[in-house]
Amino acid sequence: MQTLRVDLGERSYPIFIGEGLLGNGDLLLPYIKGKQVCIVTNETIAPLYLDALKSALSSLRLDVVVLPDGEEHKNLQTLNLIFDELLDKKHNRTTTLIALGGGVVGDMTGFAAACYQRGVDFIQVPTTLLSQVDSSVGGKTGVNHVLGKNMIGAFHQPNAVVIDTQVLKTLPKRELAAGFAEIVKYGLIADAPFFAWLEENVEELMACASEALAYAIEQSCLNKARVVELDEREGGVRAILNLGHTFGHAIETAQGYGVWLHGEAVAAGMVMAMDLSLREGWVSEDDVARTRALLQKAGLPVTAPENMTERQFLELMSVDKKVLDGSLRLVLVRQLGQATVTESFSQANLKATLGVT
Ligand code: NAD
Ligand code: GLY
Repeated sequence: MQTLRVDLGERSYPIFIGEGLLGNGDLLLPYIKGKQVCIVTNETIAPLYLDALKSALSSLRLDVVVLPDGEEHKNLQTLNLIFDELLDKKHNRTTTLIALGGGVVGDMTGFAAACYQRGVDFIQVPTTLLSQVDSSVGGKTGVNHVLGKNMIGAFHQPNAVVIDTQVLKTLPKRELAAGFAEIVKYGLIADAPFFAWLEENVEELMACASEALAYAIEQSCLNKARVVELDEREGGVRAILNLGHTFGHAIETAQGYGVWLHGEAVAAGMVMAMDLSLREGWVSEDDVARTRALLQKAGLPVTAPENMTERQFLELMSVDKKVLDGSLRLVLVRQLGQATVTESFSQANLKATLGVT
């Protein structure tokens, strides 16, 4: 087992990475301070992994909320199901919520924990590659609004993140690829040697080879933790973790939540961000080609959906959380392995990127 740490003063927490950690009560119990626990999961994950987690926590008063599965359910209405259960079973301020699932369950459970009685503890047990390398770390929680992705939420750090790599064996290939997109992101924004390692190991990763996956998860969590430690609430540098997301969120919103997976939209969005970075004279054609090829090897989309217009992109991108005083800011790549958040790019170049991809 590998143990990493996110250093945030009194909100610091460990990230455990290893095989079979889900059923390890000794690992979880020190991070639960009361006697009450509420596991939040969904209808797909419950039959696979709920029993193992429940038996690890059998010494506690345990309740379970099983949410409907899907990004289209990541909203305030579904969030209420968690509050209904917590109130119905009289959970108090010392309760701990445990998110057992992918990014959708994790983001909603974290947000419920941030709001319930003005804030209770929670633990992340991420079960998708995407949630293991990204969403379970860093404390961003929330739900979607029909007018914008992740627009209602809070920063609320977990007490611990428990990553059981064995659960990836049941993950559909399309979901594995979606997680791979966020892994590639770390290479592009902060870690050129890791990007090169991914080029060498993409086939192993997509074949779910344990050792390669464990290494990719560890490097991703390390990269994410270092950025979050510098800027927990995204006043500045943390925004680089959103490479490709402004374009990607526009794609997800326009297509209807759940039609394009988050990681798929991010993959196409990262190629668009690289294309604009090239037009701004920063990265080379070879860097863009390498990015496109790497994502394509994992079966990810590298162009925007054909049914989206430039106008639709600009409209949806204007509600992005990085918009400041009406100015659109984008994460662009200065050179492979180094990103920047900027509002100084040419509108003509942006329009060309929206037109060509
Ligand atoms: P997801 O949570 O929808 O999970 C994908 C699918 O896999 C679901 O159908 C789920 O039921 C299923 N599943 C989960 N684990 C499984 C397993 N082990 N075996 C079989 N099936 C399994 O999607 P996701 O990609 O994990 O997360 C996407 C969400 O994460 C988006 O809402 C996105 O906005 C959010 N996100 C948040 C952050 C953050 O920092 N908070 C970062 C990136 C993404
Ligand atoms: N996924 C972006 C962030 O955590 O900041």
